[in-house]
Amino acid sequence: MAQTKNTSKTYKLNTGAEIPAIGLGTWQSQPGEVEKAVEAALRAGYRHIDTAFAYGNEKEVGEGIRASGVPREEIWLTTKLDNPWHKRVAEAIDTSLKNLGTDYVDLYLMHWPSSTNPDDLKKHYDDWDFVDTWREMQKLSGTGKVRNLGVSNFAIKNLERLLNDPSCKIVPAVNQIELHPANPSPKLIEYCKSKGIHCTGYSPLGSSDSPLYKNEVIGEIAKAKNRSVQQVLLMWGVQKGWSVLPKSVTPSRVEANFDLDGWSLTDEEVAKIDAIPDRFKVCGDSWLPVKVFFGDDE
Ligand SMILES: NC(=O)c1ccc[n+]([C@@H]2O[C@H](COP(=O)([O-])OP(=O)(O)OC[C@H]3O[C@@H](n4cnc5c(N)ncnc54)[C@H](OP(=O)(O)O)[C@@H]3O)[C@@H](O)[C@H]2O)c1
Repeated sequence: MAQTKNTSKTYKLNTGAEIPAIGLGTWQSQPGEVEKAVEAALRAGYRHIDTAFAYGNEKEVGEGIRASGVPREEIWLTTKLDNPWHKRVAEAIDTSLKNLGTDYVDLYLMHWPSSTNPDDLKKHYDDWDFVDTWREMQKLSGTGKVRNLGVSNFAIKNLERLLNDPSCKIVPAVNQIELHPANPSPKLIEYCKSKGIHCTGYSPLGSSDSPLYKNEVIGEIAKAKNRSVQQVLLMWGVQKGWSVLPKSVTPSRVEANFDLDGWSLTDEEVAKIDAIPDRFKVCGDSWLPVKVFFGDDE
């Protein structure tokens, strides 16, 4: 069997940049844990770290990067604009860069299409929304502070609105969305592909206490391949064509999640996982002042 090198696999973005297929997720990584997880990941060979201002851990992520000794320019670093900062994009990126202790990020994402009023997090601005925010984010291009711009949690409806607005001069390079066998979003994936937008899958394992770990179809495939359920879930995402962001603060798991070379799923195994009927979503929109998901994967 041909030896696939998924750990060095990258996807080319519409900017020409190459995003590594496997990145370390850091949401819900507790203080005191995330620095070590980032360091362990980079030492294990990861070259892609995903964080966000909202995770409150940018400083520690930066410390983990420095502790690893891996040169900054070898690492793909993503962070995200938090919802209450939509009217303060220039200030937000400077704050994130300061937290991370770096001059630039490889990818800056609008975390959610929700311009939340910072004075009342239950309210949306009356006079501002994500199209205005994107107009401001575009101004970061050419400053050297962000190498690529993208969005997250954008459904087709919101992408359509953004792309059809005359102020939209830059097509997002990435849409980071929830992707696992119980939230496969084929229509959204197809739509993004048709617009040249790469998808990155978050919660690729189904997040904390994942019901997918008990799924019989995945369990049988994992057993037959002598692999873990988590490795099968990650391989499924990579073979489907999106980058994946497994989160772990457990060094042995961080390493195991990166052990994706030299084996692959057959087309039949991929199809079996595709056919799993279970559906759940880790991240809903009920906590936001606006609706951002519109049913199915639209
Ligand atoms: N853009 C967005 O709005 C958004 C939303 C959600 C997530 N994300 C990004 O996507 C990343 C991943 O999503 P996620 O954190 O929701 O969930 P996930 O990566 O699907 O799952 C993480 C959970 O799985 C456990 N785990 C990891 N590897 C394992 C293994 N090999 N064996 C057993 N358990 C394992 C982790 O435990 P331990 O850590 O205890 O090992 C943790 O509880 C986030 O961290 C974040 O960077 C982005």
